[in-house]
Amino acid sequence: MSLTLTEMAVEVLSTADGRAKTALSRRHAEAWFAARRGEAAPIKVGAASPPLHPARPARPELLNPRDVPRRRPGSEAGRIALLHAVAHIELNAVDLHWDIVARFGHVPMPIGFYDDWVKCADEESRHFNMVCDVLESIGSHYGALPAHAGMWRAAEDTAEDLMGRLAVVPMVLEARGLDVTPGMIEIFRKAGLAQAVAALEVIYTEEVGHVAYGSKWFHFLCGRENADPKDVFHALVRRYFHGALKPPFNEEKRAEAGLPPDFYWPLAEETEARDRVVRG
Ligand SMILES: [Fe+2]
Ligand SMILES: [Fe+2]
Repeated sequence: MSLTLTEMAVEVLSTADGRAKTALSRRHAEAWFAARRGEAAPIKVGAASPPLHPARPARPELLNPRDVPRRRPGSEAGRIALLHAVAHIELNAVDLHWDIVARFGHVPMPIGFYDDWVKCADEESRHFNMVCDVLESIGSHYGALPAHAGMWRAAEDTAEDLMGRLAVVPMVLEARGLDVTPGMIEIFRKAGLAQAVAALEVIYTEEVGHVAYGSKWFHFLCGRENADPKDVFHALVRRYFHGALKPPFNEEKRAEAGLPPDFYWPLAEETEARDRVVRG
């Protein structure tokens, strides 16, 4: 019996080891697209129950962000720590994209919705592998350092709300990646680490697409409910996102990804005002 797409998603989510998870993720993505091109028997989306938390390897140790040691960004240790943090984000992203495929089976969506997130999961799998390759080429590996424990929080908070998931994950968190990646590329260019620069440039290009898919399906759902996308986005980010939206923003790449300034600037100004009150 061949697996349904949601069963494939659950298999990836239930695989702990990073390289094993991404290898399975890539195999399932390949099978899905071969079927979609008519080169193999059709695969049903089906319905499956994803775990509330994905399986993760014993290492890295997961710490509260406050307790993750900070290293000077200009040092070799700092660059390793930065790449390690990126690998952790990419592995989490693999799970996030398979989770959106599996978790919202009760919301009827066009088949293109699944195509987009399977493609994203496949790309995140490549991102994780590329960053691990760089880490290994400079004598480290994923798991060598502690990593942030809070990464799955956004998925848990939005486990019942597809529009909330789209607002927070691709349109806030992945959009943040567009803001910070050019600065990271500069750090590795200065250090002469061509392999890291190449990996981050692929990530930077492909992440625009992930934000764009988020915006596309968010607008689709708003249109189906006859709701104003900007107002709904603001309400959902206020409800589900607990961090701050911090400028500077990469306004050009955000625009390319279908995220206009009036979506994020009002929220940035709100969190700035809130932080001012807290600081007194
Ligand atoms: Fe990525
Ligand atoms: Fe992504």
